[in-house]
Amino acid sequence: TSAKNPPTSLKSQALEPYRMHPEGQTLTTDQGIPISETDNSLKAGVRGPTLLEDFHFREKMMRFDHERIPERVVHARGSGAHGYFQVYKSLEKYTQARFLTDPSLRTPVFVRFSTVGGSRGSADTVRDVRGFATKFYTPEGNFDLVGNNIPVFFIQDGIKFPDFVHSVKPEPHNEIPQASSAHDSLWDFVSLVPETAHMVMWLMSDRAIPRSYRMMEGFGVHTFRLVNAEGKAHLVKFHWKPLLGTHSLVWDEAQKLSGIDPDFHRRDLWDAIEAGNFPEYELGLQLIPEEDVLKYGFDLLDATKVLPEELVPVQRVGKLTLDRNPDNFFAETEQVAFCVANVVPGIDFTNDPLLQARLFSYLDTQLTRLGGPNFAELPINKPVAPVHNHQQDGFGRQTIPTSRANYHPNSLGGGCPFLANPRQGFTHRQERVDGHKIRQRSESFNDHFSQATLFYKSLTKPEQEHLVAALEFEIGKVERAEIRERVVHQVLVNIDFDVATRVARAVGVPPPKPLKAPKVSKRSRNMVDTSPALSI
Ligand code: HEM
Repeated sequence: TSAKNPPTSLKSQALEPYRMHPEGQTLTTDQGIPISETDNSLKAGVRGPTLLEDFHFREKMMRFDHERIPERVVHARGSGAHGYFQVYKSLEKYTQARFLTDPSLRTPVFVRFSTVGGSRGSADTVRDVRGFATKFYTPEGNFDLVGNNIPVFFIQDGIKFPDFVHSVKPEPHNEIPQASSAHDSLWDFVSLVPETAHMVMWLMSDRAIPRSYRMMEGFGVHTFRLVNAEGKAHLVKFHWKPLLGTHSLVWDEAQKLSGIDPDFHRRDLWDAIEAGNFPEYELGLQLIPEEDVLKYGFDLLDATKVLPEELVPVQRVGKLTLDRNPDNFFAETEQVAFCVANVVPGIDFTNDPLLQARLFSYLDTQLTRLGGPNFAELPINKPVAPVHNHQQDGFGRQTIPTSRANYHPNSLGGGCPFLANPRQGFTHRQERVDGHKIRQRSESFNDHFSQATLFYKSLTKPEQEHLVAALEFEIGKVERAEIRERVVHQVLVNIDFDVATRVARAVGVPPPKPLKAPKVSKRSRNMVDTSPALSI
């Protein structure tokens, strides 16, 4: 196979020098010293105290004592797989990213699926959002598409993320409940922050109890930019479409499975790949001219909104295949570090204030989680593209820079003196920005309920019944009556009067009164605008 068209396992081959194959080998210390006895510590007499001199005992115990690292602050429970991505035909009209313009290129990927709220050992089939994070090891460096299985998010501005996550996670005084959407603090937050309404409807829907990671959609959620070699940009929404279709459990199954097999999704993914039933997903794009950012009656910078597929169809542009299980859970699935800021030339950000916050958060948390600044050198994170720079030192440095000069520019003839041609290197898209420094949400983010209603109405009757049953179950567990009442009277009634009335009855709060004026804002009435989609 040529270097240009490597097998699926290009990354896998790159990992080979790091693999330890202990089968049939003699036991050694970390220093390579053969060990002849590992069942008894070195003692002063058979019944005497253990001696400090016993370096094998000390090393063995020290390594055990330090096995744990912090779990991810969110998405702690996950399952990963290797695979590859291949684009169907060149997207050079829209982007210069090599992995999207060269149909002969198989780009290695590592994908990690996850739940969000639970700890590392929590059950798989809980009601929760699922993460769908993909690291593309492209010839131009790593591109991470760090998405979820739900196309919108709970909040519009990243500064609310710590508040939101604190409300979802177990409560601070007693760490109850583990991995559950049924508790006072979550619904308290929802009732006080109406921008959560749309995502909460998805969370209460069957989408939040997927049948399998193989049968789950993925979404980049934010609007990103694609930029072509001429510098022309389009806005883009990323989608993953599973070739097996999108399927869910029903709540009763999900609850039973949590007890019977907490590893249900992890096992399903592992077994499918072992059996050669490789999970496949098509990459879908919604492409939007930049000037259309406000055209659809909401703001494409607002992550609580979908761009309905009827308005801008999803075009399927390539395929992701997962064909290899990791060799070691910790070294690969646990140590992989995704970051929304990892983009390659041809892909750029937008001013979505949720995305902007994420650009800071991932690298920051990984400095703690992975013990210092050198985690990009860990085998699973290392690009297949060459890495040359003047970064220096730090805990856990692995590569050995050989040059005397570690600064730019230098006249010692060392270091990496060359800069990429601006047409090939990453250039941030020039965008005129002009405004007052201000802590305020744009008015174009104001409509919190129209799409929540749209989502509910788009469901089939059985799906609607599941959703109402989920609301009754989850809100019914909230202890404080005023929170239950506020959810019904401040949130649900704005989404659907019938739903609000049914939930009020089930959770023991007064029935809501019909709204006097329709809550559909002027903006959301524009949503019927059907502009022709861009085609590839
Ligand atoms: C994981 C922050 C919103 C998807 C994480 C982690 C942090 C974080 C700190 C742990 C990363 C690690 O330890 O390696 C944030 C912040 C957000 C935000 C501050 C909003 C401001 C989102 C959204 C999505 C998302 C909107 C989906 C589009 C994920 C996924 C992971 C993750 C999939 C797990 C990655 C993995 O498998 O390792 N997030 N997040 N997050 N986040 Fe977010």
